[in-house]
Amino acid sequence: MAAFWAATLLIGEFMIDKELMPKHVAVIMDGNGRWATLNKVNRISGHNAGMLAMKEIIKRADILGIKYLTVYAFSTENWKRSAEEVGGIFSLLVKYVASELNELNENNVRVKILGDYSKIPKAAVNSIDKALETTKNNDGLQFNIALNYGSRLEIIRAVKKIADLVKNDKIEIEDIDEDMMSKYLYTGEENGSIPDPDLIIRTSGEERLSNFLLWQCAYSELAFTDSLWPDFTPDEFESIIEEYTKRHRRFGGR
Ligand code: FPP
Repeated sequence: MAAFWAATLLIGEFMIDKELMPKHVAVIMDGNGRWATLNKVNRISGHNAGMLAMKEIIKRADILGIKYLTVYAFSTENWKRSAEEVGGIFSLLVKYVASELNELNENNVRVKILGDYSKIPKAAVNSIDKALETTKNNDGLQFNIALNYGSRLEIIRAVKKIADLVKNDKIEIEDIDEDMMSKYLYTGEENGSIPDPDLIIRTSGEERLSNFLLWQCAYSELAFTDSLWPDFTPDEFESIIEEYTKRHRRFGGR
């Protein structure tokens, strides 16, 4: 019995076998806008509520012992939104780093960015650089923020890097394989070789990947919930993980 308890994490009403805990969970935080409309507040207030939800999910992921949590915060397509909304999201990012960086660091969280964040407003770039620098030696939960991220562009970027190696006679065409592609994606070497996500969660009732981790999701389990992101709670997160641990992953085998 003692061994059973040692292997099982009991938080609230959930019982999760630690051995089956996903190493990497990725989240598409969708529904902030609809939450704002439902609650009769502006869209930025919706994103602010989304940021508060995100903080709680980071904490629960850390408690559960998940090694990598990736959130889709801003896609390459999100630039099509109004300047006011785009500016508001990046102001929230600056606010988030200012208020949370100490706590993240004290909890040994390492922050990484997936995407070309050099294109975002300067104040946000500075906040990110500070978060990356402050947390770079931490070895607890790795919190990856996909920012100005798009999976197709990520794949093209990796292909260009590999083509350049061929062009400069550093490798042969025959050397190109799956591991090499993985190495040159944002999730590759430059961000600590993040394993592919075991589980991808999308909130708000939409059931698609929207250009998120398209290479990396080959064998990911997918979970969808109708909850709008600001309403998504750590308990719901944990219940999805509990459900995931009961799935049977075969990776193409029997
Ligand atoms: C999707 O909801 C959410 C986003 C595009 C932005 C996510 C941003 C945050 C959670 C807060 C900021 C945090 C950081 C780290 C920058 P939506 O606006 O597409 O919702 P809708 O589909 O209901 O309109």
